[in-house]
Amino acid sequence: MNWHARTFLLAARMLIAGAVGVGFSPAAPAQPATVKLSPGDDLRALNATPQDVAEGKRLADSSCARCHGANGVSTMKGVPHLAGQRPAALYLDLRAYQSGARSDKSMDGTIKFLSDDALVKVAAYYASLDPAQPSAANGAKAAAKPDPVQAGKAATANCAGCHGETGVSKTPGMPSLVGLDPKYFAAAMNAYKGGQRKHDMMKSFAAGIRDADLNNIALYYALQKPSRAQTRALGDQAAGKVAAAACAGCHGDAGVSGNPTTPSLAGQDAQYFVAAIKAYKDGSRNDATMKAPVASLNDRAIRDMAAYYAARQPQPPKVRRPLTLSEWAERCDRCHGINGNSTDPRSHMLAAQRADYLEKVLHAYRKGERRSPAMAAMSDALTEADVENLAAHYARQKARAVVYVTVPAK
Ligand code: HEC
Ligand code: HEC
Ligand code: HEC
Ligand code: HEC
Repeated sequence: MNWHARTFLLAARMLIAGAVGVGFSPAAPAQPATVKLSPGDDLRALNATPQDVAEGKRLADSSCARCHGANGVSTMKGVPHLAGQRPAALYLDLRAYQSGARSDKSMDGTIKFLSDDALVKVAAYYASLDPAQPSAANGAKAAAKPDPVQAGKAATANCAGCHGETGVSKTPGMPSLVGLDPKYFAAAMNAYKGGQRKHDMMKSFAAGIRDADLNNIALYYALQKPSRAQTRALGDQAAGKVAAAACAGCHGDAGVSGNPTTPSLAGQDAQYFVAAIKAYKDGSRNDATMKAPVASLNDRAIRDMAAYYAARQPQPPKVRRPLTLSEWAERCDRCHGINGNSTDPRSHMLAAQRADYLEKVLHAYRKGERRSPAMAAMSDALTEADVENLAAHYARQKARAVVYVTVPAK
């Protein structure tokens, strides 16, 4: 047994004896629902003797190494490194495969007939090994996906000249884009592209945007600080307010719509507003919902309403800024340890794990194929880009062996 294993096991026994605490204590991880253990059972791998570890190694060499690698460092796609993984986490994984709580065709057959004792020993053996070296190559997608808001901003370089840098129009006739819900925004762009909404220039801009960028652009504008169009509005606001009462049911009292498919009108450029109403009236902008409300409006009423809405304060749509990679990782680290180096023997170390395995597992949690209440909640909100970025992030972290820090008894 190497030096590290000895220290580890010594520390482990002290942990069992309750003589030590850890410097970092995440929330107690949930166990898979169908694994029933007596209290402390999952920690037996921490209390293994050097003989147990040696027996664990024999089993690992004969039954596990062909997939998990000679020293628990896997070179096989989709097969996790086990070296240095936390002992109770390993044992619980094995129990989960045995009970059927977790299922994988490579694993199910291999460990089906192993005794509980053997699971404890093989878990202790793998936990005692030095962890794998970090690598971005282990199946990580070549380039990390950029932040969606940054990507959206970059894709709007060609729009700023007409719509303003942050979507606040400075040019009469050009609509402000700030304050629009991403759903309406994307629908409008697709309508230009598909020709349902007729505008040759916007059609060609819309056609030039990659599908992947469209949502990022919509998100970028939705997250900009709303402000009124910096254009003039002629018209009687008070009269406009009276006429606009008929519109409030859909567009909101002060032009802030609560419905993601109905555009907000607050702060909109007045000239664009007038043109839009006229287009609905003459049918050149064909929309079943807007046809009736505008049918009997005269030019004066339209102009007054345009002035009324232009003077209202736009509000941000109900869209949350997606978390950045480091914000996500900070959340994951609360349970999996700083940079994925868990200090709780029941919590998986993520540092230096194969990226392809991390991706595979995160997908399995999202789809409910691997069940864990904690991880279902965490992975639910992840986008595909988040999954790839987090997998690449953890694969690159230096993995650290467990070191338990003794704290003086109170
Ligand atoms: C035929 C290839 C194969 C063999 C042999 C094999 N494994 Fe695995 N093992 C896998 C694969 C693939 C996974 C990932 C499965 C999944 O995603 O649930 C895995 C997952 C695991 C996990 C879960 C690790 C984690 O971080 O969640 C543990 C623990 C494990 N194996 C231990 C063992 C042990 C111990 C043996 C020998 C007794 C063994 N495996 C033999 C292929 C194999
Ligand atoms: C040369 C000026 C110009 C450029 C550049 C331009 N637009 Fe437009 N955009 C317009 C005009 C004019 C309209 C109003 C068209 C109409 O009447 O339907 C419009 C309408 C829109 C609308 C509909 C707004 C609403 O309230 O329904 C969206 C969304 C939009 N543009 C997004 C973009 C994006 C994204 C880009 C860059 C990729 C872009 N535009 C580039 C001039 C421009
Ligand atoms: C029954 C719901 C409803 C009512 C009532 C209604 N609207 Fe609309 N309005 C919509 C919807 C939905 C759209 C988006 C249609 C489209 O995609 O072209 C819209 C679009 C608009 C637009 C275009 C905004 C843009 O950014 O391009 C203007 C301007 C507008 N409405 C003004 C009015 C006014 C003024 C009234 C009252 C006289 C009114 N609406 C009443 C549902 C309504
Ligand atoms: C509230 C605590 C908690 C948080 C926060 C958390 N996890 Fe987990 N994680 C767990 C638990 C518990 C398990 C083991 C579940 C099981 O048995 O399948 C786990 C397992 C995993 C696994 C499987 C490890 C392996 O070797 O099989 C991965 C990968 C993972 N988490 C990634 C993440 C990522 C990425 C985040 C942040 C987005 C995260 N976790 C946040 C508690 C948490």
